[in-house]
Amino acid sequence: MSEHVTLTINGTAHELDVEPRTLLVHLLRDALDLTGTHVGCDTSQCGACTVLVDGRAIKSCAMLAVQAAGREITTIEHLGGDGLHPVQQAFWDKHGLQCGFCTPGMIMTTVDLLAENADPTEQEIRHALQGNMCRCTGYQNIVDSVKAAAAAMRDTTRSAPKKARAATT
Ligand code: FES
Ligand code: FES
Repeated sequence: MSEHVTLTINGTAHELDVEPRTLLVHLLRDALDLTGTHVGCDTSQCGACTVLVDGRAIKSCAMLAVQAAGREITTIEHLGGDGLHPVQQAFWDKHGLQCGFCTPGMIMTTVDLLAENADPTEQEIRHALQGNMCRCTGYQNIVDSVKAAAAAMRDTTRSAPKKARAATT
């Protein structure tokens, strides 16, 4: 029997009937066509399916869709608005991807990390990404991408108040 749930996905409220056994990742990919969230394993180990749930990185293959009722889900499709999010830009600039299969999950985990820690050490970055696997890059370029994203986001935060002051003078 289906359950009726309401959840907010990428800023839009959705009312859906879902089977209680449906995983969030399958709801996103199959019902809503949000295929930027990938499935790379069936053991909740690869992290390719990572999305933000109320701002925190969650493996969407490890969460039932009904558990997401009433919560805000953000997928890679919505991260940057009309352009690239600074984390996406940094992965592009620093060659933090090759085939790109792991990249949406890496990026969502990075967004969560940088929301909590604006200036992580290399060790903290590697620790945060330990639930995300990459078969291609050897990880160093991913770590470099996260460092570059952190620096860019700190710069934006520092310059924002100055711009706001300039706009009022
Ligand atoms: Fe591998 Fe979710 S698909 S952790
Ligand atoms: Fe291919 Fe990470 S870029 S799996």
